[in-house]
Amino acid sequence: MLPIRNCVRWCLRFRVKYVAGVCLGLFILDYFGAFTHYFEADFYKEFNYPLNGDVLKYANQVRQGKSPDIDPINLYNYSFKYNCKQKCWNDDDERFLVPKLVFIVKSAMRNVNKRIAIRHSWGFERRFSDILIRTVFVLGQTAEQDEELQAQIDEEQQKFKDIVQVDFVDTYFNNTIKTMMGMKWVVTYCPKSKFYMFVDDDYYVSAKNVLRFVRNPVNFPEYLEEADETLRKLARRLSNSDMLNNSVVNVHEMKNIVQNVNSVNNKDLVKTIQKFINAEEQRPKNARKLMQMQLADDVKLFSGFVFNSAPHRHKCSKWHVSLKEYAWHMWPPYVTAGAFILSREALHRMYYVSMYTKHFRFDDIYLAIVALKADIEPLHSEEFYFYKAPYQGPHNYRYVIATHGYDDPLDILKTWNECRSAGHA
Ligand SMILES: *[C@@H]1O[C@H](CO)[C@@H](O)[C@H](O)[C@H]1NC(C)=O
Ligand SMILES: *[C@@H]1O[C@H](CO)[C@@H](O)[C@H](O)[C@H]1NC(C)=O
Ligand SMILES: *[C@@H]1O[C@H](CO)[C@@H](O)[C@H](O)[C@H]1NC(C)=O
Repeated sequence: MLPIRNCVRWCLRFRVKYVAGVCLGLFILDYFGAFTHYFEADFYKEFNYPLNGDVLKYANQVRQGKSPDIDPINLYNYSFKYNCKQKCWNDDDERFLVPKLVFIVKSAMRNVNKRIAIRHSWGFERRFSDILIRTVFVLGQTAEQDEELQAQIDEEQQKFKDIVQVDFVDTYFNNTIKTMMGMKWVVTYCPKSKFYMFVDDDYYVSAKNVLRFVRNPVNFPEYLEEADETLRKLARRLSNSDMLNNSVVNVHEMKNIVQNVNSVNNKDLVKTIQKFINAEEQRPKNARKLMQMQLADDVKLFSGFVFNSAPHRHKCSKWHVSLKEYAWHMWPPYVTAGAFILSREALHRMYYVSMYTKHFRFDDIYLAIVALKADIEPLHSEEFYFYKAPYQGPHNYRYVIATHGYDDPLDILKTWNECRSAGHA
C-alpha cells in the first residue's frame, strides 16, 4: 500500500506544479498581449473605424452649410472661456486676417513661465517685419476649481490677450479634446491663415525653419543646401567685384539678407544684392525655382515626425489599448502630436471629418484616423524631434524645425537666442 500512496502523492504534487507552471506561462503571455495579438484584425485589409461610409461627403456637406445625409457622430462641444477672437480679426475692414503662420501652443494652466519664454522667443509675433505670425495658447481647466490659479490666468489674459481657455478638465487622456478645440478655435476665429502649427509648450521651435519648410516641405532641408551652394557662388562673384566688403560676404548673412529683405536696415545694400541675384545667370535653374516656390493654396499638408507602429498590448503599458478600443494590428501612419504643421485646407478638412470619426483618447492616433478618412497622407520630416535633439551650438540646429525636451524656460530662451543670432531661428 505504502509505495502506491507515495506514488499518488508524488503524481498529484507533480501535476499541481505542472498545472501551476502552465497557468503562470499563460498568464505571462496574456500579460504581454500574446493572445490579443492573435485576435487582432489586419489593418491593411480590414480597417473600418467608425463611422464608415462616405465620411468625406457628409463632412463637406456640413462644411458648406448644407444639411448632411447623416448627422455628425462626434462633436467636441465644449465652450471657450476665453476665445481670443480679436487675434485674427481686423477691426478696420471687419475681416479675418490672413497670417502666414499661426502657432497653437498646447499649454497647461500652471506653465506660466514657459508661456513667457515662448512669447519672447519662437512665439514672438513680430519676429519678421513682413510676415504675419500669430500665437495663442490653448488651456483647459483644473478638475477642482482652483481660484488662485484661475485668477493668474485671468490676469495673464488681460495682459497678453493670447489665451484660449476651454472648459474641459485638462488631463493626459483629454489631449484629444485640447487638440480638437484648438482646431475648432481655428475654424471659428482664425480660419484664414496659410499654415498652422500645433505645438506643446515644452518645445523649442524655429519659426524661420517652419517658414522655410512650408515653402518646400518635400525637399526640406535639401533645397536650402542647394540654395546655399547657389549663394556661395554668388558670394564669390560679389567679393571679386569689390561691391561689398568681404565680411559681409558670408553665406549665412547672404541667406538672411535675401530672405528677410525688409528686415535689413541698409536698403541700398539689399538692392545691390537683389540686382546681383537677378543678374546671376549661372545659377542652376532648379535651385532658383525651389527658392521661389510657393505651395498652392489648397495644398493638403499634414506634417511632422511620422511613425508606423503597432498598438501596445502588454497590460503594464501607459498606452495599453484593448481590442475593444482598437481592433487592428497597426496604427495608421501617425504624426507625433507634440509638434505638427497643417495647411489651411488640411485643417479645415480634418476638422469636419472629425465630426464623423469616433473619439479616440490618444490625440496623435485620433488625428491619424481622421487624416486617413480625409484622404490626407501625413508627410514625414526628420527635422521634428520627439525627443530632445542634442544641442551643441546653433550650427547643429540649423535645420531643426521643432524639438521636444525644453522643460526649462531659460533653456528655450538661451537656445533660441543663440540660434537666432546665427540666423537659424
Ligand atoms: C452644444 O452645447 C450647447 C450648450 O453648451 C447646446 O446648447 C448645443 O445644443 C450643443 N450642440 C450640439 C450640436 O450638441
Ligand atoms: C475630460 O474632460 C471631461 C470634460 O471636462 C471630464 O468630464 C473628464 O473627466 C475628463 N477626462 C479625464 C480622463 O480626465
Ligand atoms: C565696408 O568697409 C568700410 C570700411 O572698412 C566701412 O566703412 C563700410 O561701412 C563697409 N560697408 C559695408 C556695406 O559693410
